[in-house]
Order: sequence, then structure tokens, then C-alpha cells
Amino acid sequence: MPKKTFYITTPIYYPSDRLHIGHAYCTTIADAIARYKRLAGFDVFFLTGSDEHGQKIQRKAEENNTTPQAYVDKIVASFKHLWEKLNISNDDFIRTTERRHHELVQAVFQKIFDQGDIYKAEYEGWYCTPCETFWLERQLNDGKCPDCGRPVEIVKEESYFFRMSKYQDRLLKYIEENPEFIQPTSRRNEMINFIKGGLEDLCVSRTTFDWGIPVPFDTKHVVYVWFDALTNYITAAGYLNDREKFSKYWPADIHLVGKEIVRFHSIIWPIILMALGVELPKMVYGHGWLVVEGDKMSKSKGNVIDPIALIDEFGSDAIRYFLLREIALGLDGNFSRDALISRINADLANDLGNLLHRSLNMIGRFNGGVIEAPGETEAIDQELHDLARTTVAQYEKHMEHQDINTALKEVWALIGRTNKYIDETAPWALAKDPAKKDRLNTVLYNLAEVLRIAAILISPFMPVTAPKIWAQLGIKTDFASVTLGEAQAWGRLPAGTIVAQPEPLFPRIEDKPAAEAETKPVQTVATAAPKAETTDQPSCLPEITIDEFAKLDLRVAKVLAAEKVKKADKLLLLTVDLGTEQRTIISGIAKHYEPEQLVGQNVVMVVNLKPAKIRGIESRGMVLAASCDDKLQLVTADMPPGSKVK
Ligand code: MSP
Repeated sequence: MPKKTFYITTPIYYPSDRLHIGHAYCTTIADAIARYKRLAGFDVFFLTGSDEHGQKIQRKAEENNTTPQAYVDKIVASFKHLWEKLNISNDDFIRTTERRHHELVQAVFQKIFDQGDIYKAEYEGWYCTPCETFWLERQLNDGKCPDCGRPVEIVKEESYFFRMSKYQDRLLKYIEENPEFIQPTSRRNEMINFIKGGLEDLCVSRTTFDWGIPVPFDTKHVVYVWFDALTNYITAAGYLNDREKFSKYWPADIHLVGKEIVRFHSIIWPIILMALGVELPKMVYGHGWLVVEGDKMSKSKGNVIDPIALIDEFGSDAIRYFLLREIALGLDGNFSRDALISRINADLANDLGNLLHRSLNMIGRFNGGVIEAPGETEAIDQELHDLARTTVAQYEKHMEHQDINTALKEVWALIGRTNKYIDETAPWALAKDPAKKDRLNTVLYNLAEVLRIAAILISPFMPVTAPKIWAQLGIKTDFASVTLGEAQAWGRLPAGTIVAQPEPLFPRIEDKPAAEAETKPVQTVATAAPKAETTDQPSCLPEITIDEFAKLDLRVAKVLAAEKVKKADKLLLLTVDLGTEQRTIISGIAKHYEPEQLVGQNVVMVVNLKPAKIRGIESRGMVLAASCDDKLQLVTADMPPGSKVK
């Protein structure tokens, strides 16, 4: 049986300037959807490209004392470089200056002209060059472009017009009968109102500049850049030169576009297709805008964020994860460095990174690195299996509705539950009792199995991290051939698999979020050496004053990592997060706690103890514990790291 096909496009970007994080946002969404569909077994065609003609580009080239072609060649190379760095898996990259497209635009223009839907007349009206959009006097906002707010210029020239008005009723009927066609619904309603306001015939040629595709039968005109650009979607699908490909992929399943260009895609584009007698795309999805600290990105405001610099600093998967997780698709979303760092630290380094690290560590320490076959399933295991199953089902449902950030939330809920499962099943305790070997095997198998499923589910979003998890789990099958079906079935992980050495997936970012950096730094000076293990109940010590007590700086600290200190059976080396900084401390609690048990706990710590060197390691602080006879329990507090204890 041939595979079902899926065709998804991004807008083709203007090479007037380098792309910023907002453009990267749009392409990342399309990439995640394309990768998800491939995982779900579809034959996917994913297209992106560049929209290279028009007055704006011609002017930019003039400003730079170069030809339009040389200008766009350079910028388009930077687009391709960005998509590579961001691991974008497009199947084709279309440039509107390519011959295949040039020929198609001319053929389409000619056909529509021949059938009488394009006619010549005089145009007089307004034009916004940055948006490449014609406006009527009554549509302007205080004399400015209603889309971008920039000044418009008067245009008076002989032009060809496209009879859009003729198709108005057909289009309206189509939109009303196909509720999925324009998404989300808010955009659909806007478009319906716009059409009901009356469609004017559209000016589709220009004569006052020449950087464009000439009208085939009247070469002093160039085709209007939006007419030229929109047809890219059928050029690349093979409308003119590859009928087989065209019938395979067309109609497109999703044109993913920013909200401000939904109008072009859901009014002009369908009418061009109606005039050609070609089926309409199944969906135009208008996503929201990425803003910076609540503000639109612009060169003049100096708040344009370069995606390449971010990828170099944080890695492409972290950026992709942030963009996809932070913003609900149809809505605007905010980009901030603080929010990015928080997400990396909380979701990637802590939740996902710790689950992998703790699990592999325990499989290594307790089972010699072998994922043994599970024993009997207890209620807590069944609950985890059920959650994994419903997570996959929910994930699919959300992905089918382009609800990427909710799909990601579901996966992270499973990861969070599994971290808790470790605390509840306490494998370190099971490992001490040979009679509980079967139980230990079950728990460790379940951890590895959740990680296997999570790797599959996150692969459309984090294509670098997912195969790394696969490799660390020691799974031998090629990750590139994995399917979504393999996530649906619990228990696919072969018993006997040997895990690799755990390697951190995402190191914690130390950069301080601006808000926190302004708060007073935590004191680090004091006296006394680390000590957390007492064996006797102390008799009361002499009284101290409240001022003396106030000298102690006690804080909540989250344990990020814990490991045994070599050749010291009482000591653990802890890495803790104090909210404003990380510390390393040595604590004499190894007889009472397994390292895995501590990760993720919020302990109470004296932070202003004078640093001390223990076994060659500098320890900066001391965790508090209650002790009685040979029992010891750490003092914990369910409060954010850095909270003061008084
Ligand atoms: N060339 C036209 C599209 C033609 S498609 C046949 C164009 N190009 S653009 O480069 O200006 O914008 C391309 C896409 O980037 C648009 O969908 C736009 O919404 C998106 N974005 C530009 N800035 C953005 C943000 N700040 N946030 C999210 N997307 C944004 O329009």
C-alpha cells in the first residue's frame, strides 16, 4: 500500500535581510509537524524557500550598490545555513528566481489572462513597499499601512488586474463549507468579515521597477510579487513539469504562515487556484508572532534576536524546544533570555536530563549496566504503563491538531511522573536486598522503557537529543527508522540491552536571569567545617541571642546531582542550586542516602559556612539533618531554591 502523503509549507522569506528568531519560530513549527508526520508513517513533502523579487529587494540592492541577484544570492545562502544549523528537514528549497518558477508564473499568468480573468487598466492607489501590498485610501490607518504602520507611497501606473471580485461568492461559500480551511477560528472569522466587506480586483503587475518576472505578453510589466510568490507552492509540487508528483502531494495539507499574511493565503491564493481550476489547499494556519519583552522585533528598536548566536550558545535542540514549548501556536508569544534559560534548566537539564542520568546510573550500579527483564507488575507499575499509553494517545491527538505545546506538556508530565516513580519505588533500597532483585529489575526496566518512549515522542522537536537518548539506552536499532507505532506499544525494549555510560544531555546554564541577578548575592563567608552526621542526642548548648542566630544564613537548596566520593564511604559530593548560584558541598550522609535518592530534593543548607577542603574538594556549605541514634534524615522544605529559612 502506498504511504499516505502530507505536504506542508512555510512562507517563503524575503531575502531583504537576515532572518531573525521570529522567522526561525515559523520554520521550526513546520519542521516539527513534518517530522511528526514522517514518524507517523506519512510520505512527507516539506517546502520552504525565498521570495526574491519586488520593489523592496530592488531598493535594498541599490542601497548596497549591488545587483538584486547578487544581493539575494548572499542572503539566501544565510537562510540555508540557518536551516541547517536548526536541523530543518525540508525536502525542497524554492527560490522564486529559479527557472522552474519563472516559467510557471508566466504560464499561470498567461492562462488566467487568456480566459479573461486578467485585464489591463489604470491603477491609482497606495502601496506599502515593506509589505509589498496595495491599499485603498479608505483602508489606510492615519495615512499609514494598516498592517505594519509604516508610510505608504502613491502609485499611479498602467497595470494588469486580476478579477478577484468574480470569485468572491465562491470563495465565501468554500470557507463557510470548510471550517478547517482557515485556522485558528479567530483568523477564519476575520477573513469571512474581510470578504463580506467586498473584494476589489487586484493589481497584479508593476511597471515602475523591473526586478520581477516579466508578464509574458507585455514585458514592460513585471508580475506583482505576491502573485509570483504564492504560486511557489505549486511550482515545487510539480504543477508544470511533474504531473505525477503534483497529483501525489497536491492539495497541500497545511500552509503554515504568520497571522499577518493569512489574508494573502486564504483570499488571493485560493482565487488564483480557482481561476486555474486547481484544488484548494486543505488548511491555512495563521500562527502568532514572537515578540521580545512584549515588543515587535525591529532594527530601529535594536531588539532583533539572531537565531544563529542563540544556537551557538545553547544548541539547536534547546532553542527548538523553547520555541515549541513556550508558545501556543495561534497566539503571540514572548521571547526572553531568562525564560529560555529557565526552560533549559527546569525541563531539559532537570526533568529530562535527571531522569536519564539517574536511571542509567542505577542500571549501571545495581545491574552492571544490563536492562534485565521485568518481573511482576505491581499497581504502581501498571499506573506508569497506563500513563505512558495515554500520553502517546494524547500526544497524537494534539499533534494532529497542531497543538504542539500541549503535546510537549503531556510528554513532560510523563517524565515528571517517572522521576517521582523513582522516589516512590526507591531502587537503591531494593538493590540492598537480594530477595528484591525481581522488583528492582521491574523498576529499572520501566524507567528505561519510559525513556525509550520519550525519545520517540520528542524526536520531532529535538532531533539531536532523541537519538542520543536512544544510544545511551544502548538500543541497537537505527533511530532513523523508528516509527510512532513503537511508542504505542509498552515493552518493546529488549531485555538484556546494555546501557552506555550516562552523558549529560543539557548542562545547566549558569547565566543568571536578569531578575535574580539583581537580588543580593548569597553570603559565602562563615566559620566551621561541613558536618552532617551526628550520632548522639546533644544536650542543650548555651543560649545565644537572636542576633547571634541571625548570623546563620540558612537557605533552601535543590540537589541537582549527587555522587559517592571515591574511597570515602561516608561522604557524598552534592551539587546544589541556590536559585542564584550553584555550589558543591561534601556531606557525610552516604551511609543514610543513596545518591539517586537525593537528586531533586530541596534540602536546607547553611550557606555562609567558611569553605573547607575535604578530600581535596572544596565544600561550600552544609546541609542540615536531624539525627537520633543511628538514624539520620535531611531537613527538607517544599520551597523554591534560595528561599530563606529563619
Ligand atoms: N515573502 C512573504 C511571504 C510569501 S509566502 C508566499 C513574507 N516574507 S517575510 O519574510 O516577511 O515573512 C515570512 C514569515 O515570517 C511570515 O509568516 C511572518 O509572519 C513570519 N514572521 C516574521 N516575523 C515574525 C515574528 N516576529 N514572529 C513569528 N513569525 C514572524 O511575508
